[in-house]
Amino acid sequence: MKMIYQQMLGFFMVIAFTILLLGFSFARMTKSFVYDSTWQRLEKCSDSLIQQSLIVNDKSESNVSFNTQTLKTSESLLENQSVHFTLFNLKNQVIFPNNGLSTKITKKDWEHLKRDQIVRKVSSRSAKLENGQTRPAMIEVLKPYYYKKKLVAAVVAGSFISDVNSNVDKINRNLLTGLGIALIMSMIVSFFIASRLNRRVAKLRSAANQVANGNYDIRLPSKGRDEIDQLIGDFNHMTDSLQKADQEIERQEERRQEFLADAAHEMRTPLTTISGILEGIKYDVIPAESRDQSLDLMTNETQRLIRLVNENLDYEKIRTNSIQLDRRHFNAYDVLSNVIEQLANKAKDAKDELILHSPKDLPIYADYDRFSQIVINITTNALQFTENGKVTITGERGYNETIVRIADTGIGMTEDQQKNIFERYYKADASRRSGKYGESGLGLAIVHQLVKQHGGKISVSSKLNEGTTFTIILPDEQQGDDKESGTKQPDEIQTKDGEL
Ligand SMILES: Nc1ncnc2c1ncn2[C@@H]1O[C@H](COP(=O)(O)OP(=O)(O)OP(=O)(O)O)[C@@H](O)[C@H]1O
Ligand SMILES: [Mg+2]
Repeated sequence: MKMIYQQMLGFFMVIAFTILLLGFSFARMTKSFVYDSTWQRLEKCSDSLIQQSLIVNDKSESNVSFNTQTLKTSESLLENQSVHFTLFNLKNQVIFPNNGLSTKITKKDWEHLKRDQIVRKVSSRSAKLENGQTRPAMIEVLKPYYYKKKLVAAVVAGSFISDVNSNVDKINRNLLTGLGIALIMSMIVSFFIASRLNRRVAKLRSAANQVANGNYDIRLPSKGRDEIDQLIGDFNHMTDSLQKADQEIERQEERRQEFLADAAHEMRTPLTTISGILEGIKYDVIPAESRDQSLDLMTNETQRLIRLVNENLDYEKIRTNSIQLDRRHFNAYDVLSNVIEQLANKAKDAKDELILHSPKDLPIYADYDRFSQIVINITTNALQFTENGKVTITGERGYNETIVRIADTGIGMTEDQQKNIFERYYKADASRRSGKYGESGLGLAIVHQLVKQHGGKISVSSKLNEGTTFTIILPDEQQGDDKESGTKQPDEIQTKDGEL
């Protein structure tokens, strides 16, 4: 069943039940109210009847009688108001009117009357009279009258139930009409409420469809009033996340394409050089004296190609956790001093001072080769982006960890650049395509993955034109470390601005 019908059915059931309950109790109330006021009216009529017709005999004050003429006048007056009365003496004889239409007062009722109690009665069934006629159902009041504390008469005043009930019916009919109108009105209102809800759900549905078709720009207005608004809020949140993820994928794709273009460009130059030299050799056009130089050039270019391909493969392997780290304890000082030696020429080329500050004994728990790779990558960058400056490698022990800092006084980076440097193919300055050291934009991405695999942290702090400092923290061996796997995930990787 459609939601709108379900809602309307729900509304209808609640409203109909309420109206039924209300109508029922109101009808009962009306009936008892009308009966009550009829009895009161009958009592008043009988009081005034007695007051007007009572005659006290002068000689003996205890003897009273009733003026028949007054009673007759009252009878015709009261009949107009649909009130019928009968006056009884103590012997249960009808004093007035003597037309045989009155029933006798029962013994039980006399007992009440003698105790000065008023009896209110509803004789619902039609009663047979002494003269054979049937008396219709009546609502009656039996009231005793005392003179000088002596019961002198009893009046039975009554109205036909049909007359009273016709009043009740009239009220009930009005009530029914009112409730019917209320029911229709509430159905109309509930239809509008239900259809409004449905419209909102339909909007949400069509928005969800659009998202499914790849439109992540869609947002729905939410006033935060009810659960649907909350759902809309969640929906907007979801599209936000999807949009961000989509943008990230696009960004990665752009980077990938950029890299492919870069790689193609990078590869084309050495390949052209190699191809030229090979052709020269084939047709023997290279002079003997420059043969060695050409072969050296070919070797260099081939190595450059191999390095480019290797770096990519390496990155992929680390990223997909398919390399095994051989973590062990060794002295990090040895590695750091080796790096200084290895990069001495590069430092000389850049006219940089390369300094090492480290205790001679600096224990570390890491993969020897990968740790060297990390330090070489970062130090190479430092030398690459620093001219006539200083590059300082500092090694120290922290609490259950080894800390290595590589600081330079080079060109530095903006905050924005710092956020991106660990991403694959990122180069802060895209115009530097083919520098001396390769510049594929993979170095720091590899470093990042390697530190992550070691369960360590890497952070960067830098100021444009002042210099950059990279800090690497590698934890000591912990209980339960799995030497074999080497694929433990890190706690976190940090940049200066916070977590990556
Ligand atoms: N010490 C530094 N000073 C200034 N900028 C730096 C420094 N280290 C890295 N960068 C910036 O971060 C970018 C990414 O460095 P990364 O080592 O990943 O790539 P690359 O050096 O360009 O290429 P390669 O893959 O050959 O290392 C660099 O292109 C550079 O813009
Ligand atoms: Mg680099």
